[in-house]
Amino acid sequence: MDLEEQYNESSPHLSEFTGPSVPNNAKEADDDDPLTLSPYALEALKEFLTEQHSAAAAVAETAASGASSSEVSLISEDWRLSQFWYTPETAETVSEEVLELLNCLTTDYRSVACIACPTLFAYLKKANPYVCARLLEYDKRFEQYGSDFTFYDYNQPEELPQALKNAYQIVVADPPYLSLECLEKVSQTIAFLARPDKFYLLLLTGEVQRESAAKLLGLHPCGFRPQHSSKLGNEFWLFTNYDPGNRLGGWQSEDRV
Ligand SMILES: C[S@@+](CC[C@H](N)C(=O)[O-])C[C@H]1O[C@@H](n2cnc3c(N)ncnc32)[C@H](O)[C@@H]1O
Repeated sequence: MDLEEQYNESSPHLSEFTGPSVPNNAKEADDDDPLTLSPYALEALKEFLTEQHSAAAAVAETAASGASSSEVSLISEDWRLSQFWYTPETAETVSEEVLELLNCLTTDYRSVACIACPTLFAYLKKANPYVCARLLEYDKRFEQYGSDFTFYDYNQPEELPQALKNAYQIVVADPPYLSLECLEKVSQTIAFLARPDKFYLLLLTGEVQRESAAKLLGLHPCGFRPQHSSKLGNEFWLFTNYDPGNRLGGWQSEDRV
């Protein structure tokens, strides 16, 4: 699949630009006329493409700034915002899993919502700049990702653009705090974003959230253990609502827990 095909697959918005440009009677008038975009749609398409390219360039730029070719260099952690970035190995493992899921999807909703996990977002975009991914984050420094960024405060779990409602078949979340209250609110956001019929959910959080993750979201722990660049006191686990087979260390059986 070439880049243009990938772009079309990953950009459902493109239909917004082709629709209004063809008047209803145009087809009747002359079926052989080439399709043209109205000046308004053309301008909107140009704007959209510029934003996409700036976002891809921002990721490429951070990738190039001092990190080795396989790493992505992120902005500095702000511990007041509970920011602890994944190690490159963890970010790559989770991003590979998301790309694997995206590849298996056959629906129009081949997109992923990354809730409060900017490192994952950056690694996904590095692996494929045209992947349809959205970062929901509180830290406005990530506005550098352009139209792929949505400001998000878990205290207002559903204060999000309506266009995002039930729009994602894959959701990954790494809540800022290890409290029940925070997980409950993030669960509300997940329900808002996810496709109601079937969706894939990955939650990265402290082991202490195990019971709440099962109760609120029907999640099971995987064998894979997320690691952070700064050493944390809490053990972090990865939970999924689908059986990953032998990826991610598989679902952890009760005797290993
Ligand atoms: C535990 S970190 C997860 C980051 C992840 N380990 C990574 O490397 O991408 C929690 C994230 O929540 C964000 N955050 C902090 N306060 C928040 C709030 N009120 N609402 C939503 N997200 C918030 C932080 O900026 C941070 O990116």
